[in-house]
Amino acid sequence: MVRLKVRRQDGDRVWHETFDVKDTPEMSVLEALFYVQERLDGGLCFRYSCRGAVCGSCAMLINKVPRLACRTQVSSVKNEMNVDAVKWGALARPVVKVAKDEILIEPLPNFNVIRDLVVDMEHFYDLLDYIKPWISAGDEVPKGGNLMSPEVEQQIEVYTNCILCATCHGACPAAGRDEMYLGPAALAKAWRFYLDPREQEKDKHARLEAVDNQSGLWGCDVVFKCVAVCPKKVTPTQGILAQRRQIPKNRIKKVFKRGKNSED
Ligand code: FES
Repeated sequence: MVRLKVRRQDGDRVWHETFDVKDTPEMSVLEALFYVQERLDGGLCFRYSCRGAVCGSCAMLINKVPRLACRTQVSSVKNEMNVDAVKWGALARPVVKVAKDEILIEPLPNFNVIRDLVVDMEHFYDLLDYIKPWISAGDEVPKGGNLMSPEVEQQIEVYTNCILCATCHGACPAAGRDEMYLGPAALAKAWRFYLDPREQEKDKHARLEAVDNQSGLWGCDVVFKCVAVCPKKVTPTQGILAQRRQIPKNRIKKVFKRGKNSED
């Protein structure tokens, strides 16, 4: 048996409820929630789709750590409450009393709750839209096609693995403070498109300028919480730092270009 302590919410009413679940050796937290929904409380709300760590819709806070419920085995988080919740900063709040044998399940932080464990993702997608997550290639295809070197492909691949589950956003202290902060997922994607050789040079510059501010690259605390929780091993902080380093390089390029044009 395993005991789940689940944060429930219906409008302004918030409460915690415990459920005893008959666990099996390979049971995931998502399956434990199915057990509750099917046998104990049909009203429990949570989101899922693929059940295989692909769609990213089952992200939630499990023992104060943002994780995918379908990818987290009950056995790995059972008796885990030796987890130092304090190290998760804002995520540790509100402090909830949990018995050693309970698994604490809460909705993803930094999002408004719609009901129980279901959060409103709309703002997250709006932030993503801001960075224009698409290639703005020109009409002309270069001779020989748009080729990508294996090195660039490797650099980009780290970021294309993102499944937009928003665990990074839920773990991010800057996103918790400032809802206008673009957040790790959007900023990592911005770098992915910057790196893409199909993107035209002028669009790359515009892309970087759009995130060169406090709501973008400079809002990051560089505490690597997003990297620590990503189930797909994406490294948003590294992408943010790479863009910060790229900004002065682009400025120098611009100055040289201006100098060259005036000489001509
Ligand atoms: S249900 Fe799709 S990632 Fe968990």
